[in-house]
Amino acid sequence: MYLQAKGKFSKQAHVDIPTGTYEEEFGRDGFFGPVSHLYHQNPPTGWTRIEGPLRPHAFNTHQLPQSALLHAVPDRVTMLYNEDVAVQVVRPKQTHPWYFRNADGDEVYFIHEGEGTLETDFGEMPFETGDYIIIPRGTTYRFVLAGSQNFFLIFESHSRVVEPERGILGQHALYDQTVIETPVPTTPSNQENTTGHEWEVKVKRLNELTSVFYPFNPLDTLGWKGDLTVLKLNVRDIRPVMSHRVHLPPSVHATFKAHGFIICSFLPRPLESETGAMRVPFYHRNIDYDEVIFYHSGDFFSRDGIQSGMVTFHPQGIHHGPHPKAIEASWQKTQTDEVAVMIDTVRPLQITQEALAAEWADYWKSWQDTKLKSEANAE
Ligand SMILES: [Fe+2]
Repeated sequence: MYLQAKGKFSKQAHVDIPTGTYEEEFGRDGFFGPVSHLYHQNPPTGWTRIEGPLRPHAFNTHQLPQSALLHAVPDRVTMLYNEDVAVQVVRPKQTHPWYFRNADGDEVYFIHEGEGTLETDFGEMPFETGDYIIIPRGTTYRFVLAGSQNFFLIFESHSRVVEPERGILGQHALYDQTVIETPVPTTPSNQENTTGHEWEVKVKRLNELTSVFYPFNPLDTLGWKGDLTVLKLNVRDIRPVMSHRVHLPPSVHATFKAHGFIICSFLPRPLESETGAMRVPFYHRNIDYDEVIFYHSGDFFSRDGIQSGMVTFHPQGIHHGPHPKAIEASWQKTQTDEVAVMIDTVRPLQITQEALAAEWADYWKSWQDTKLKSEANAE
């Protein structure tokens, strides 16, 4: 359909919003498809109550069941899931003696807390806080933990996890492929065979574990070549894309993607500097994606009451956008100071009972201070 524009509107989205209005982006296909901007007299998040299951959620992952080991299925607490991906949290305290292999899907680990060595079929590599680690389906591995304080966020993907297209930004945008690290073949410290010793590999398929035993250490690779391996990317090596003149959509912060979802990283960056340009996420109902954000570190200025380790979940069909305090706070700031991981999913996500038990039940009320002036008036 040909572009239409009627009534009060801004010629450039997210800039110079008409006085007394609240701009909402109503779009398809995430931020890639047809879109209209609606200029409301009231914030779309100014609800007084919500009846029924569809409401914004926030979960405190510190209230989830504490896990002792890393790969025992009951210890990986699934919070949200659909046919394409499961969002899990695990807080292992000790290294286990066996190796793990996931036949159910690729895994993207985000190391919220912890460090140590990752042992894999491809060799070893160190890991630390802020790492994304992609482990292809079928890889044999284990995390050797340096300490007892560890907190990993896991996205278990049914399909292959790949890098996003850079398009007109060029291939070195977001992050250069050279900063991606891969394991180096080394002889594991427990390689020596001793009489009677056996090595165990636990294989997960359909969320059930099968143990395979060897009279030798199966991580015995002397070398490898190819383009299928374990990858590591730390958030400090990601270079956010921004414009000083207009607030860009979250999709420009894409880090990885797979069938049915995209993972984005929100990192410290300068705020938009031109007068009239919005500095906080615009109101939207993002009808084709469910949105989940894990808050890693920093000051989450666009979300009131959110602390490190919390997860917000904004399902398709209901609005979200900045909290009223965040709009005013944005005018006092010149840059963001947050590290957060977002996953947007095409298929609606289901919430597990474990996640509901850790829910901040009043999160949906956190937008209710809606009588503040609109961003345009706040100048
Ligand atoms: Fe969103």
